[in-house]
Amino acid sequence: MNISHQPARRAIIELRDIEKHYGAYHALRGVSFDIREGEFFSLLGPSGCGKTTLLRTIAGFEDLSSGTLTLDGRDMEGVPANKRPTNMVFQSYAIFPHLSVAENVGFGLRRSGKLREEKAKLVGEALEMVGLSGYDARAAHALSGGQRQRVALARALILKPRVLLLDEPLSALDKKMREQMQVELMRLQRHVGITFILVTHDQEEALIMSDRIAVMFDGSIEQLDEPEVLYRRPNSKRVAQFIGVMNFLPGEAQGLSGGRLAVDVAGLGRAEIEPGQFSPDLDHGAVSVGIRPETMSLLFEGEADRARVASGTVREVVYYGDMTYYEIVLDGLDSHVTISMKNLVDRPVLDVGARTRVTWDARALVAFAA
Ligand SMILES: Nc1ncnc2c1ncn2[C@@H]1O[C@H](COP(=O)(O)OP(=O)(O)OP(=O)(O)O)[C@@H](O)[C@H]1O
Ligand SMILES: [Mg+2]
Repeated sequence: MNISHQPARRAIIELRDIEKHYGAYHALRGVSFDIREGEFFSLLGPSGCGKTTLLRTIAGFEDLSSGTLTLDGRDMEGVPANKRPTNMVFQSYAIFPHLSVAENVGFGLRRSGKLREEKAKLVGEALEMVGLSGYDARAAHALSGGQRQRVALARALILKPRVLLLDEPLSALDKKMREQMQVELMRLQRHVGITFILVTHDQEEALIMSDRIAVMFDGSIEQLDEPEVLYRRPNSKRVAQFIGVMNFLPGEAQGLSGGRLAVDVAGLGRAEIEPGQFSPDLDHGAVSVGIRPETMSLLFEGEADRARVASGTVREVVYYGDMTYYEIVLDGLDSHVTISMKNLVDRPVLDVGARTRVTWDARALVAFAA
């Protein structure tokens, strides 16, 4: 999560009732939201949900079928891409392999009318920003994937756009390099203060880097929130499943008490769900109750019972070194829940088939329409 905690800023981009049709295909459906000045904003969703389409719409590479888009208070209708204060970095680093690093980075300044020394200074500054100082003369084809993506970033930043659009810029990198670049991109964004809009289908990447995230499905924004809110209070089962892992248990809502929703949860018993963690239209009848793996835990030998305890059997064990993920079949249930446990020096790893006790933090429960 980007923890810059900037105060709420004014909107730099306003999208209102955006629709996009490709022939009979309805690619964007009623998209309305604001992006704030200086924020790191992510569009997150599964393949084909319309992320690239929305980004290209903002950049001016696609026309709207209907709706309005304003940038810095200016209606973008009819404004071509090269006249917008945006710049885009693509998934496949579109740099010119036959040019040097400096020529690539300075490419957009060709017709700027700037003097040669001035251009060289700007190129130097842009290269420094992305950690490639001294690489000026290097041929672009002789760079690693991560370095090429830095060149693409420097080339976009040198034009000092108001908004930088990034379409899966890290997806071609291996895991280690991607993780390193995530941190660097965050730092860079804070340093330059430009509004970044990142498209990704990697939920972890979005959680790590963003001030706010819009989750998209089928051409619509399903939820737009800060990472922590999105994770803790997803407003639908598919958002919950797209972001992290969530267990779902069937439940029976039994009305409100003191703003909380009383639910009889299969395997866990009676629970009261916190305000904001269920939709207001749920009060009676069948519901689906969600709980994250890290808000449940196993009780090991010698640990006293808690207020909330259930018994179950270990079905599967996945050991990750720092963590172990257990699939536990609670007594009386057919399905399993996934529970993650931190591995401690004096904590055993249970075997498949072992009997165990399970406890959970009832404050973490979320209820959805069944
Ligand atoms: N030019 C086009 N003509 C027709 N359909 C298109 C066109 N461009 C995109 N689409 C369709 O619109 C939908 C959204 O595409 P888009 O590229 O925005 O998805 P995405 O969310 O970026 O997916 P991915 O994660 O795979 O990149 C897809 O079903 C796609 O096939
Ligand atoms: Mg895409």
